[in-house]
Amino acid sequence: MARASKRPDAGKIDEAALRGLPEQHGQGHVFRFWGELSGAERTALLEQLSRIDFNLLDRLVRAQLLKPAKPAAGKLTPAPIIPIPGTDQERIAHLQARQRGEELLRQGKVAAFVVAGGQGTRLGFDGPKGTFVIGPVSRRTLFQVHAEKIRASARRYGAPVPWLVMTSESNHQATADFFRKNESFGMEERDVFIFQQEMLPAVDRKGKVFMESKSRVFTSPNGHGGSIKALSDSGALEELARRGIEAISYFQVDNPLVNPCDPVFLGYHALHQAEMSSKVVRKRDWSEKVGVLGRRDGKLAVIEYSDLPESDARATLPDGSLKYWAGSIAIHLLSVEFARRLNRGGFQLPYHVAEKSVPSLDDRGSLVKPKEKNGIKFETFVFDALGETRRSVSLEVRREEEFSPVKNAAGEDSPEQSRRDLTALYLRWLEAAGARIERGNGGAASGYVEISPLTALDGEELARRLKPGTVVRSGFIL
Ligand code: UTP
Repeated sequence: MARASKRPDAGKIDEAALRGLPEQHGQGHVFRFWGELSGAERTALLEQLSRIDFNLLDRLVRAQLLKPAKPAAGKLTPAPIIPIPGTDQERIAHLQARQRGEELLRQGKVAAFVVAGGQGTRLGFDGPKGTFVIGPVSRRTLFQVHAEKIRASARRYGAPVPWLVMTSESNHQATADFFRKNESFGMEERDVFIFQQEMLPAVDRKGKVFMESKSRVFTSPNGHGGSIKALSDSGALEELARRGIEAISYFQVDNPLVNPCDPVFLGYHALHQAEMSSKVVRKRDWSEKVGVLGRRDGKLAVIEYSDLPESDARATLPDGSLKYWAGSIAIHLLSVEFARRLNRGGFQLPYHVAEKSVPSLDDRGSLVKPKEKNGIKFETFVFDALGETRRSVSLEVRREEEFSPVKNAAGEDSPEQSRRDLTALYLRWLEAAGARIERGNGGAASGYVEISPLTALDGEELARRLKPGTVVRSGFIL
């Protein structure tokens, strides 16, 4: 696989055509400071303009600004979910799924796909989120954790698992450099494919793009749904098809608990001939701010918490449990064929609008930070693809085993919380494997412990590798 995404060749810029393009779309103000720009700045601006899809922007502005989209309505119903096994029958079904998934992994039919093009605003970390240190003891970065899980799975099943890494213009170079510096974390060069998603300008209330400098239009990534378009535009999808890959395991860069090559999930997906599947966890309570997997007018959807009426959010089943309990954790499987279908005849996910405050240049060319929201961004969401599926599987998993994202600098979903969750999981594995856990002051539970994915991908593997009589104190690492 290649490392760079397809990008227009800056040397082949047709200046005359590019000068005309924004004008034709009512965005001629992007050249307001042209007379002040150096040759290099002019080239940079034209190069950026060559990558903006002005036709798409026109369509979005017309559809969203002039006729604002109504909030999502429709009849909501819960979606069928495969539960964590509680009965023998469910346990047997899980075993059968595991066998099928293991077969796919042995046949080399699985690729891992991390989306890492977001801007990580809430975390406030300077650099791509994947380069953030998360290993509680080892100080591994998020990218390294993911890479080691993929390598460990490839080693276990004896077949490569290609890794697709989606970046965006704002972090592509830094990500590619980080992979180079770390020699792709031990993965084969041909199994790593780093490519960029598309950027889109934000517009003001009249549909005009903002300038962030005299030679640059303000743009931001087109949402995680853009990953499905980027898969196709970058050539990754065709490469996967050529390599005989059938399932793409999609996950977010910020979740160090993810299991990117889960044979049970893969197996259910394959046995149901699903096009796109999802993992869910039980909501903590009715008010947890997480999207729930359900159906809207019969179509599978992730219903965002802001779109779920309080009466539905609070609704319970006869046994007292929540009716809409299945929180989406942004872990999916996509069939290669389905991803191709979504790109056939143009990219098919809807664009959502978000009101934002966008810093931009005033008439004199000074950057002004607005106090209020002054513009809108357009984004697509990967889970909207669920509504396009003919067959889909939704699988319940345990939050404490699979989901602890790093979103905020402190508090909930913070690095500290995530390291605690990793430690808690490793302690459970260690205890089940027969290790003696030192508790109390200075003991294991008061600090951090860590198991490398290359040592053990799960509790069973750890049990096979752990030396009898192991004692676990704070700072333990294996
Ligand atoms: P979030 O929506 O949590 O955004 O993305 P974020 O960029 O990480 O953080 P904030 O909201 O700015 O604080 C969830 C996942 O989707 C990816 C992110 O990189 C993250 O892995 N993502 C998001 C993209 O790859 N592209 C996007 O356009 C948006």
